Amino acid sequence: MNFVTGLECHLCGKKYPAELLWVCGECLGPLRVVYDYASMRGVVTRKAIEARSPSLWRYQELLPVEEPKTGFHSGFTPLIRADRLAKELGVSELYIKDDSVNHPTFSYKDRVVSVAATRAVELGCEVFGCASTGNLANSVAAHAARLGLTCMVFIPDDLEPAKVLGSAIYGPRIFAVDGNYDDVNRLCTQLADRYGWGFANINLRSYYAEGAKTMGFEVAEQLGWHFPKHLVSPVAGGTLLPRVLRGFEEFVDLGLVSDPLPKIYAAQPAGSAPVVHALEEGLDFPDPVRPSTIAKSLAIGNPADGFQVLASVRQTGGSGVAVSDEEILDSIDLLARTEGIWTEPAGGTTLAATRRLLADGVIPPDESIVVLITGNGYKTSEIMRDRVLETVKVGRSVRDVEAVIGDDMATVSS
Ligand SMILES: Cc1ncc(COP(=O)(O)O)c(C=O)c1O
Ligand SMILES: [Zn+2]
Repeated sequence: MNFVTGLECHLCGKKYPAELLWVCGECLGPLRVVYDYASMRGVVTRKAIEARSPSLWRYQELLPVEEPKTGFHSGFTPLIRADRLAKELGVSELYIKDDSVNHPTFSYKDRVVSVAATRAVELGCEVFGCASTGNLANSVAAHAARLGLTCMVFIPDDLEPAKVLGSAIYGPRIFAVDGNYDDVNRLCTQLADRYGWGFANINLRSYYAEGAKTMGFEVAEQLGWHFPKHLVSPVAGGTLLPRVLRGFEEFVDLGLVSDPLPKIYAAQPAGSAPVVHALEEGLDFPDPVRPSTIAKSLAIGNPADGFQVLASVRQTGGSGVAVSDEEILDSIDLLARTEGIWTEPAGGTTLAATRRLLADGVIPPDESIVVLITGNGYKTSEIMRDRVLETVKVGRSVRDVEAVIGDDMATVSS
């Protein structure tokens, strides 16, 4: 690892070697990776990055691995200028960062798992696992298959069938726990402690979280080395949002971008919104909630990185928005119809929050906005079944079709 100097406690500052450690022995604070930024200057340049292949490893010096072992096609997902959606919302400059097409498992989690899986191999873990709300398990199982690691994934027992199958296909042991995500996480923490298995989001968490910075790096690079004015991110466990900000800050520190930092907003489903409540109530740590929402991937009542999310949102002058299940479904629908992108409820949550921020005048309509779309709608298809136009059964003649579309349509297209 060219530039990693070790791990450091977020709270008390105690330093540790870059091993399978995730909490501080002194104060139980989370550990983060520390880099030697001074030595990166002149090495990590716009030119050097742009010359590399289009994956998250183009930012390799800013990631905590010796050498990439997976994820060669992960990251560098499209940043789409969404003009039809912008028109619908009455704004002038709107972008979708589309991780619904991430590789290999169609969510933002392929970023964090590329890094965690590589580090798991480097640290000699033979078992690779996670506690997951679905997408993480998909990505962990796929990466374990590719690296030949034994895989154990733990999920709540109420996930969408396609999400469960999306892990099972890669051959892991899947444990559907009788409880919610927070119960699953507690169980996995005990297993990591007892068996030393590498859990992506538990004892490998310091490395895993670094992978999420690449979302921020890419947004800035794809905007021509600029930041947007506003960025809306979904929040569950709280890995993504603070690391997008961290990525932006690192680019500023390295002299790659000189814009002011964007305002960053946290989007949560109303049925699982501990971070939004904490923002509204002025708390430093979110009070845990019991999740109940259609957005199962965001159903985390006790976010591991809640503190960092609150600090990041406040630091940038952003805020939090909790949206109803109905608003989530409506936004999935709108994104599909205007931009041809089918997202899952996590993306519906983020877009719904963006719409609310615009309606409330929090985001002015003439300033640039990036919306993070982090998951794919094919994995949760059943929730949209009642919201699409019915398929029309017809005979094989033109007349059969015309009987349905009516004279108007036939004239328009002739
Ligand atoms: C599609 C999707 N988006 C967003 C998130 C939330 O990310 P985080 O846990 O980093 O807050 C998750 C998972 O938890 C997810 O599966
Ligand atoms: Zn500490």
